[in-house]
Amino acid sequence: MKTVKKILFWALVVFALIQFIPVDKVNQPVNPAVNFVDAKKTPEKIGNLIKGACYDCHSNETVYPKYAQIAPVSWSIKSHVNEGREHLNFSVWGNYNKELKESMLSKSIQTVQSKAMPMPGYIVYHKKANLTDAERALLVHYFEEMLKSKSY
Ligand code: HEC
Repeated sequence: MKTVKKILFWALVVFALIQFIPVDKVNQPVNPAVNFVDAKKTPEKIGNLIKGACYDCHSNETVYPKYAQIAPVSWSIKSHVNEGREHLNFSVWGNYNKELKESMLSKSIQTVQSKAMPMPGYIVYHKKANLTDAERALLVHYFEEMLKSKSY
């Protein structure tokens, strides 16, 4: 019993201490001239789907949930955001070259269809991102049209 209490005590101490490790949750400013939904004049309905389902990880407009304040959950969330932005950041879409835009559109189509995106763990806590099949079809259609017409 004594060891259990000791372990518990030190676990609490560590938990308390890791709360002081800073996590950078400041969003970079967004320039509408290069931001995907603004620059592409995405219809509002589609734009809201993309913003609600993708922008938390793939833009500089991340809205962090309350539990993102607590380490080590905050580390995991921030690492998903960092990784998501590294792969695809809709806020800087206009700065991407043609090849990258094409690749991101076709990968978005694939991942939305296969339900790899939005990340399955995320949609459990984010109702807006839990896209219906009809909403997925809308997004896929929108990205496909953009690819076909080369209007990216
Ligand atoms: C909770 C965070 C999160 C959300 C929400 C999210 N993604 Fe992702 N996305 C990631 C992460 C992390 C990666 C990189 C690791 C991976 O491929 O699984 C990624 C990778 C991708 C890639 C692959 C890029 C590449 O280089 O292969 C595409 C495309 C993508 N996401 C599109 C989307 C779209 C479209 C949405 C919205 C419908 C979305 N994602 C929502 C976190 C997210």
